[in-house]
Amino acid sequence: MAVGTVLITGGTGYIGSFTSLALLEHGYEVVIVDSLYNSSKISLDRIELLCGKRPIFYEVDVTDEAGLDKVFEAHPKLDSVIHFAALKAVGESAENPLEYYRINVGGTISLLRIMQKHSVHNIVFSSSATVYGDVTRFPNMIPIPEHCPIGPTNPYGRTKSTIELVIEDFINAQRNNVKKAGKPFEHWNGALLRYFNPGGSHPSGILGEDPLGVPFNLLPLLGQVATGQREKLLVYGDDYPSRDGTAIRDYIHVVDLAKGHLAALNHLREKNPGVRAWNLGSGRGCTVFEMIAAFSKAAGKQLKYEVVERRAGDVLDLTANPTRANEELNWKTELTLENACEDLWRWVSNNPQGYRQDPPAALLEAVKKSRAA
Ligand SMILES: NC(=O)c1ccc[n+]([C@@H]2O[C@H](COP(=O)([O-])OP(=O)(O)OC[C@H]3O[C@@H](n4cnc5c(N)ncnc54)[C@H](O)[C@@H]3O)[C@@H](O)[C@H]2O)c1
Repeated sequence: MAVGTVLITGGTGYIGSFTSLALLEHGYEVVIVDSLYNSSKISLDRIELLCGKRPIFYEVDVTDEAGLDKVFEAHPKLDSVIHFAALKAVGESAENPLEYYRINVGGTISLLRIMQKHSVHNIVFSSSATVYGDVTRFPNMIPIPEHCPIGPTNPYGRTKSTIELVIEDFINAQRNNVKKAGKPFEHWNGALLRYFNPGGSHPSGILGEDPLGVPFNLLPLLGQVATGQREKLLVYGDDYPSRDGTAIRDYIHVVDLAKGHLAALNHLREKNPGVRAWNLGSGRGCTVFEMIAAFSKAAGKQLKYEVVERRAGDVLDLTANPTRANEELNWKTELTLENACEDLWRWVSNNPQGYRQDPPAALLEAVKKSRAA
């Protein structure tokens, strides 16, 4: 029997597909809702190849309350939601903020309304380190703890910090209302997971990030340079006060990040903490130049780059203090930046067309063998 049934919005996307896999591997039943705006249903086949179980899938937009209602109706055992579905391009969010608020904030409100209607009481939310903004505005705030004041520098980040508040208000209100009615209220909980910079792919080389448009993050861009799909990487600024002048980020392997969701979900279900934020990061900062060197090593060739002007809204350093997640969720990163680079290279070099091609037979054979073992 399943440990529990979890709805995953955005579950065919990059982080969502790895989290769906982690949950299935740990005995959960997974129901995915995704509009396929930035993902492919092929990820469902890959999840099934890796763990022998297939998530149930619905092509539904998260802003479509009637569509969500039908899915919840069909799965009365649902007790938790992991909410990934969102638009996530910082630059685009400054050009079209209303669409970002409509999908990210509006979509979350629709989801919470349907959760309320069906008494589905746990939500794990994909927040971002972006909510902290430029933490150099405070002394001694790096690595960043969860009590660091929120101050995003772009509309995307503001949708995330707004959603955090909406979830906090909603869960607290549910707790109060149910308590006033004399009923148990502790099972209403929310986890705000502030990810630092996710990267990497599945070590099998058959599950990875396959963005439908131009990628926005450093690692997938480097992947495209390494496979020749992109001539060079643009480095936005080498005049930051860091050890080599480029901006510092905390890269976290997507397999570790997926396990962080499992740990947070189990914590909500077992410990009933109310609403709580956790940083999911490694605690180690890496500059853009260091990352180019690490990925060049994994790919076995020096990758071309060009330094250009700083980008508006970019900040010097986003490195996590992950102590709270280490202690409370009993979770910490286990994989390194080198693992992330090697796994990403295995993915992009074997699948330059992402999910629009079959993986090489040798990789599929290796997956079959490791499942049989
Ligand atoms: N990748 C990162 O660097 C990063 C960092 C911090 C936070 N996050 C957050 O994590 C979440 C997942 O990010 P990802 O990198 O996997 O991105 P992704 O684009 O691969 O995944 C998002 C998924 O949501 C789906 N989606 C988009 N709009 C939708 C809608 N209206 N209705 C239903 N589905 C919709 C997309 O099709 C996609 O499958 C997002 O909320 C993102 O903001 C990502």
